[in-house]
Amino acid sequence: MTCGRYIQCMAKDKTIYTCSECGGTSPKWLGKCPHCNAWNTLIEGVAESASPVKNRFASLAKASELTALADIEATDMAYTPTGHDELDRVLGGGIVEGGVVLIGGDPGIGKSTLLLQALDSLQRAGQKTLYVTGEESGAQVALRARRLGLDGSQVQVLAEIQLEKILATLHAHAPTIAVIDSIQTVYSDQLTSAPGSVAQVRECAAHLTRAAKASGVCIVLVGHVTKEGALAGPRVLEHMVDTVLYFEGDTHSSFRLVRAIKNRFGAVNEIGVFAMTEKGLKGVSNPSAIFLSQHSEPVPGSCVMVTLEGTRPLLVEIQALVDSGGPSPRRLSVGLDRDRLAMLLAVLHRHAGVACMDQDVFVNAVGGVRISEPAADLAVMLAITSSLRGRPLPKGFFAFGEVGLAGEVRPAPRGQERLKEAAKLGFSVAVVPKANAPKKPIEGLTIHAVERVEEAMEVVRSLA
Ligand code: TYD
Ligand code: MG
Repeated sequence: MTCGRYIQCMAKDKTIYTCSECGGTSPKWLGKCPHCNAWNTLIEGVAESASPVKNRFASLAKASELTALADIEATDMAYTPTGHDELDRVLGGGIVEGGVVLIGGDPGIGKSTLLLQALDSLQRAGQKTLYVTGEESGAQVALRARRLGLDGSQVQVLAEIQLEKILATLHAHAPTIAVIDSIQTVYSDQLTSAPGSVAQVRECAAHLTRAAKASGVCIVLVGHVTKEGALAGPRVLEHMVDTVLYFEGDTHSSFRLVRAIKNRFGAVNEIGVFAMTEKGLKGVSNPSAIFLSQHSEPVPGSCVMVTLEGTRPLLVEIQALVDSGGPSPRRLSVGLDRDRLAMLLAVLHRHAGVACMDQDVFVNAVGGVRISEPAADLAVMLAITSSLRGRPLPKGFFAFGEVGLAGEVRPAPRGQERLKEAAKLGFSVAVVPKANAPKKPIEGLTIHAVERVEEAMEVVRSLA
């Protein structure tokens, strides 16, 4: 947390500690803020050198000129494709001049691999690139490059962790794109705290962002993720940069998702799908196939849904297992929100008469995908009911729709696209919210439009 009461500046050497609660400052670190008495709130920063005397004539300064919005020339963003379609998709088209991208993810998930591959293709396309490594030596990076089959790569590598030297190199080398792997290893001489501390990460990211905006270099910051899954360091990093990408996926499976959480240059929640091979990460152009497990015959407890991640509909299989539990039955979910699961079980009981009170309920989104949209509700409910009754849903069946506490089935955004994607992949029967029912029939698709949970259950019973 920052208070933002003072402007940080590189030009001087004075360290000052600012309280993240009240914004008060102290010249030395104290456990307790001398102003508001809060504990552990003082964060190290660099004080601005300007003394009050220097600002004596501030009132004489001319006001800056204003420009009407309509008079500002808006040039279209020029995207430079990275040569990896799935990465370009999450970036909104490619890298942008002066853009700052933060990419986070668990250790070993493939951040360095993907970025090295991207840099190499950009370099081969004639762009100047720079890879700053703070975690590995140049030799280790070279070893990885060889493993990736990037022999003869002209990507410039800098093994350096001091911010001032990195900035000087950026200035001298003037690349189109620079990767900083990782921001947690970079430190500035101006601060006494250790690399990776909140103050260092914030300060270094701020300087790099400023350098990107001033020189037009696109900077990619690699960020570590804490055990809780958030980017380590202050959340403020996410506010400073233009694009935030997260690597998701199970390190045990070979599939990796890169999700755009924030993007000033493109759609958010867009996902790119990759497969980790021995030659690095390869884009997967038809990702729906990997989120459906191959059952030769329908099995109980499985329901396919169409989720819309960014601009692309994806078919994902939701699996549920309902089994008799002990005195305090468990509710576990993988890839879906657990609180939402508890709510859906209550709605199922109240409005559809399906009771799971004494049962353990496990739900899973196949393929390590994480679904945050409520349109998964109907599929989760149908999978649970199917598992409880031991009756599979019909072959070629899918469902989507949000379920409310009153048992109503609410429409999902862009229903037509979801239906068309499922039809394209050979699905034939659907239960969808009434408002999502298409006006014209879709070839090969029988659609049952429902308004309430009870109705959905009734339709499924009649189909089985
Ligand atoms: P890495 O990019 O080092 O992860 P991060 O930078 O996110 O910490 O990825 C390392 C993992 O990827 C490691 O477990 C080995 C695996 N890998 C492959 O399977 N194939 C490859 O070609 C490479 C380079 C790595
Ligand atoms: Mg790495």
